Amino acid sequence: AGAEVAGLVHALLRDVPDFPQPGIVFKDIAPLLADGAAFGAAMAALATFAAGVDAVDVVAGVEARGFVVAGALAHRLGCGLVPVRKAGKLPPPTIRRGYELEYGTAEIEVPVGLLSGKRVLLVDDVLATGGTMLAAAGLIAEAGGTVTGLAVLLELGFLNGRERLGTAAPVHALLRI
Ligand code: PRP
Repeated sequence: AGAEVAGLVHALLRDVPDFPQPGIVFKDIAPLLADGAAFGAAMAALATFAAGVDAVDVVAGVEARGFVVAGALAHRLGCGLVPVRKAGKLPPPTIRRGYELEYGTAEIEVPVGLLSGKRVLLVDDVLATGGTMLAAAGLIAEAGGTVTGLAVLLELGFLNGRERLGTAAPVHALLRI
């Protein structure tokens, strides 16, 4: 089933050269999300991973494309959802962290009160350099949550994000390229 889902993700991935900047090949997951059967299979595979991790109270998703994965998965798991947002979007109280992107820098925030004592499955669409997931996981821990698993649709293995995360929690990607 793992290879089948990986093949689906691969088949529906669109490479966009020189977006959003020259030299960057953007990995567009929109065709996967637009295909009902493939989106469903992807969420089923992530739910299988989630069932194998320690425990999950809430799914945390990273704005913006991570929200799509997190919302669908949380609903499927019967879990709550906590948003990890770009800085300046969430009402207080929040905590904020800056990080390096493959192209540029960014800041993300989490709501403080919703994560304390929660076991959190952190999800996003893509794991690239790992900067986003690392910052998000750090914020979740700072807010009193425990990250019990991390999952993405696509991992860009050549950017070594998984190594950079250096987490003891299991990390799962439906497709690693
Ligand atoms: C993309 C992607 C991940 C992140 C991965 O987000 O959705 O969140 O980059 O990169 P990293 O592992 O190198 O940190 P982007 O900032 O493009 O946001 P978007 O989902 O709002 O388009």
